[in-house]
Amino acid sequence: MLVTLEGIDGAGKTTVLSALSDAYPEAVVTREPSESWYGEAVERSIAAPDSDSLAELFLFLADHADHLGRVVQPALADGALVIADRYVDSRIAYQGATLGDEVKRPMEYIRGIHEPFTRMPDLTLYLDIDPETAAERAGATNKMEHVDFLADVRANYERLIDAEPDRFVRIDATQPPEEVIAVAEETLARVVDET
Ligand code: TMP
Repeated sequence: MLVTLEGIDGAGKTTVLSALSDAYPEAVVTREPSESWYGEAVERSIAAPDSDSLAELFLFLADHADHLGRVVQPALADGALVIADRYVDSRIAYQGATLGDEVKRPMEYIRGIHEPFTRMPDLTLYLDIDPETAAERAGATNKMEHVDFLADVRANYERLIDAEPDRFVRIDATQPPEEVIAVAEETLARVVDET
C-alpha cells in the first residue's frame, strides 16, 4: 500500500512522518526529492533563484522516475507499506504554479506526463494550513516558501482534492502537533486495517 504525505512548505510533514515511522517501523519511509543524485540535482535547482521552470519540472520528473523504479515499486512488490513524504501531487501543485503560462493547462500537462508510468497513491494525507502561518514556519529559506506562491500551490492542492476526494484525507495542520499526529495515525490505522 502506498501512502503519501502532502502539503505546502511549513505544514509540518516532517513531524508527522517521524511519528508514522515510529508507529510503523516495518514501513518503507521515503521522500521526494529523493536521496539520489537526481534528488541532489533537484535541490540545486530549487536553491537557484533563476532556474528555468520547465527544466526544473523535468529534473523533478527524472527524480520521480528513478525513485519509483528503485524504491517504491520494489517495496510495493514485496508487500511493504510505503510512506512517501511528497510524491506526484507535489509536482502537480507546485510545478503547476511555477510553470504559469509557460505551458498550456500546466496541471493537466504534469498529470499527463506522469500517467503512463507512475503508480498513484492509495491514500494521501493532506496537511492543510494557511499560507501565512506556513511561510512563517518554513522561514523563507528557498524561493518556494513565500506567501503568494504558497497560496497558489494551496489552491492547486484544492483542485486535486476536488478531483479525487476519496484518495485525500484533509488534516487541519494548524492544530497542535500531537493532534495532527493523532489524526494522521488514526486515519492510517483505519485504512491499513481495511486492506
Ligand atoms: P521538502 O520541503 O518537502 O523537502 O521539499 C522541497 C521543496 O521542493 C519544497 O519547497 C517543495 C518542492 N517540491 C516541488 O516543487 N515539486 C515536487 O515535485 C517536490 C517533490 C517538491
